[in-house]
Amino acid sequence: DSMKFKTVAIDGGAAVGKSSVSKECAKTLNYMHVDTGSHYRTIAYILLDKGIAPSLGEDAVSQALKGVEISTLIFGNSARMSVGGKEIEDSLIRTDKVNQNVSLFAAMPQVREFLKGYQRSMEGVAKEKNFAGLVMEGRDIGSVIFPNAEIKIFLDADEETRRKRRANEGISDSISKRDALDKNRKTAPLVRPEGSVLIDTSNMSKEEVIAKTLALIAEA
Ligand code: DC
Repeated sequence: DSMKFKTVAIDGGAAVGKSSVSKECAKTLNYMHVDTGSHYRTIAYILLDKGIAPSLGEDAVSQALKGVEISTLIFGNSARMSVGGKEIEDSLIRTDKVNQNVSLFAAMPQVREFLKGYQRSMEGVAKEKNFAGLVMEGRDIGSVIFPNAEIKIFLDADEETRRKRRANEGISDSISKRDALDKNRKTAPLVRPEGSVLIDTSNMSKEEVIAKTLALIAEA
């Protein structure tokens, strides 16, 4: 049924190709795209900017989050989280410093709770803005945020492939360290969600992964 509003959950570890696949599928289908990794990155950036390091602990983080006001800006097909009405640009949230700290903040239940309601509200935003569906990418979308999503996809790739892909982006990122933290945290760890379709992208081109994902969405 191509007229039905569908929610697509795309999960997977660092540098498996989630973002390019999610963005491209959303564009093709006129769905709204939400990158929840950017939400955690934005929170990490804001907290670090306030002088709050993860080592200060959950209470300090929780306290600092009270003053953080989030809203949404729409750019084409993508909904971006803004703070205090201001866009927080990619150049600020995709730095070494954010890479090194984001998973430590994301492991805190207070941070996840802070973002959960906001992320769930994106279905309503997509409908209100007349998008045909929602593609949300992250680590816990199919497992926690939208367990009833029409389609859940879990992307994976071998370590070597992921390291190469990230290196091509020209930023330093200890992917395996971040993945280990994300998989082993107590709250909403990175798992392959129940009912998800696994796509191993190691030996696939970006175009092949996009085509496969679009086919799965069409069938759902
Ligand atoms: O997708 P990304 O690499 O930009 O995500 C950055 C970090 O945010 C990731 O290492 C863990 C956290 N994250 C999360 O805990 N849950 C999500 N749904 C998305 C990201």
